[in-house]
Amino acid sequence: MELDQKVALITGGAQGLGAAVARRFAEAGATLFISDVNEADGRAVADEVGGRFLVLDVSDEAAWRGVVERVDHAHGRLDVLVNNAGIEGDAAAPKDPEHSPLTDWEAIFRVNMMGTFLGCKHALPLLAKDDGGAIVNFSSVASLLPTPFITAYGASKAAVEHFTKSLALYVAQQGYRIRCNTVHPGQVLTPMLHGLFDRMAAEAGTTSDEFAAQFKQEIPLGEFQEPEDIANAVLFLASESARFITGQSLAIDGGFTLSH
Ligand SMILES: NC(=O)c1ccc[n+]([C@@H]2O[C@H](COP(=O)([O-])OP(=O)(O)OC[C@H]3O[C@@H](n4cnc5c(N)ncnc54)[C@H](O)[C@@H]3O)[C@@H](O)[C@H]2O)c1
Repeated sequence: MELDQKVALITGGAQGLGAAVARRFAEAGATLFISDVNEADGRAVADEVGGRFLVLDVSDEAAWRGVVERVDHAHGRLDVLVNNAGIEGDAAAPKDPEHSPLTDWEAIFRVNMMGTFLGCKHALPLLAKDDGGAIVNFSSVASLLPTPFITAYGASKAAVEHFTKSLALYVAQQGYRIRCNTVHPGQVLTPMLHGLFDRMAAEAGTTSDEFAAQFKQEIPLGEFQEPEDIANAVLFLASESARFITGQSLAIDGGFTLSH
């Protein structure tokens, strides 16, 4: 199995894509740590996949230190870090560049960008031990296209992509055998995307279902992706099959970025 004998930590694993990655990693034989701010659902996912739950707000540096210490204490190693936790910010706040409040930008960047940075920063020493490891950071197609309807979110995901390339080069220059890549999901119908579609549908004066049906027609392969499609890509980048792939951006979007 691809992740046999490997220890993996997933942030934002209580639902959506993080939970799908946890399930796929469990099938691949990984020893799992699931973390989230949502304790109840995070524990349920951890129980389901035979992993351990650790409460973690990714924007809290002290909490990151504690989590990495606990993984180190339990196994003395970390092979895979998946920085999946992400938010779109206050649903009621305007998202365009002219009206969006600084508070929303700060909240979004604190989780999406700073959370990813803090995870990488604190996990590096443990990942670098022994035979090295892999980091998979969650960006988005929003980093690859202009997104005036979710400006701060898109900018934060572009920052994650750029940071990951810098990180990949830095760790290689240090002689750490750690590969660092980003995944860029297109549209997966998780709670996050439902929230966005609800808002955009209301602005367009239509229903969320109608909006989703129209949106689907803009995806060249004609379907929304399933959480498992993203999880499979994360597993590939985390596994030895990708052992010379680093600093790369992998879109899993049914061709959406090709046609926009
Ligand atoms: N769903 C999509 O179509 C899509 C598309 C592109 C990118 N993404 C990205 O994929 C990742 C997962 O998205 P999703 O759709 O599963 O979202 P989701 O909202 O369903 O799940 C996000 C998870 O992150 C957790 N979280 C939020 N803030 C946190 C914090 N401060 N610390 C720790 N955990 C926190 C939430 O509790 C939740 O469990 C995100 O980074 C998102 O930006 C999703």
